[in-house]
Amino acid sequence: MEFRIALVKGDGIGPEIVDSAVEVLQKVGRKYGHTFICTPYLAGGCAIDATGEPLPQETVDGCLMSDSVLLGAVGGPKWDKNPPAARPEKALLGLRKALGLYTNLRPARLYQALSGDCPLRPDIVEKGFDLMMVRELTGGIYFGDRGRREGKYGPEAYDTEAYSIMEIERIARVAFESARKRRKNLISIDKANVLETSRLWRETVHRIAAEYPDVTCTDMLVDNAAMQLVRNPAQFDVVVTTNMFGDILSDEASQITGSIGLLPSASLGDGTRGLYEPIHGSAPDIAGQNKANPIATILSVAMMLRYSFSLMEEADCIEAAVDQVLNAGWRTADLGGGAASLGTREMTEKILAEI
Ligand code: IPM
Ligand code: MG
Repeated sequence: MEFRIALVKGDGIGPEIVDSAVEVLQKVGRKYGHTFICTPYLAGGCAIDATGEPLPQETVDGCLMSDSVLLGAVGGPKWDKNPPAARPEKALLGLRKALGLYTNLRPARLYQALSGDCPLRPDIVEKGFDLMMVRELTGGIYFGDRGRREGKYGPEAYDTEAYSIMEIERIARVAFESARKRRKNLISIDKANVLETSRLWRETVHRIAAEYPDVTCTDMLVDNAAMQLVRNPAQFDVVVTTNMFGDILSDEASQITGSIGLLPSASLGDGTRGLYEPIHGSAPDIAGQNKANPIATILSVAMMLRYSFSLMEEADCIEAAVDQVLNAGWRTADLGGGAASLGTREMTEKILAEI
């Protein structure tokens, strides 16, 4: 089969980790007889430098014409003082919106080989965890009305959280379907004791739950969820939550796996086209130094093969290769590799050798 992939390498470590992941993808292509045609597009800080805007129309069009998008990371100190419309992050939010990617899947599991890196107590680590965070990605406070105005105490700023029943229903269905394929347990996270959007969220999730009698569905308040994630992460199978709660909780979930450098993500809409990216950022402090861990991006390619192209065996092959390399004891600096750490290149070579 033949697939067209838009590469949005972005800023900081983005280019290095995307290059690594593409090498792995091409090797899988040769092994299984697929052709992946990759075309690079600019987004983020590099696009601002080259064209004056974070998300050029050419990039949006290129992504819309492709079968899927692989993204590295955007942002860096160079653009931190830019006005809101000219910030690199705008590219990411704009792409998610333009491609209609309302579902963000962020799996987090404890690798046996890395249990020593988990910051949790040994008795919690022993139980392990394997969860799938389903984050709503094109609604809520990220996309609501915002601005500055004159308030009771003088000048103030405001952001608005809004969710329609339609938006909650469609993300809830994705989460229930995902739970059905896993351990049939869904926890919906909200702040229904305070927020009206959360009350609508809860009501709607409960209504959809009736369509999935085989899945156990419970509610959890977001503050409690933040606590439960470090107290007893094994209790989570699939989690569904809003854009902002999902942003915050997925960083927490990644940290208990040992390193944020391991976590891939998939952003999906109604069709098969998705955007795949590591959940970590552009790490400008180590950019271009052959230090970045390419695993999260390599695992993002595995998710692309599975979710967009239905190439299950190929996806398993990449995940198994990563497992083998970690089990063999190879580490990058973020995984506590110390003086014996592998660089981006060397880690990529190790994984390529297992494909
Ligand atoms: C993420 C990131 C983005 C988000 C930023 C860079 C806009 O933190 O993908 O989690 O908040 O969604
Ligand atoms: Mg985030």
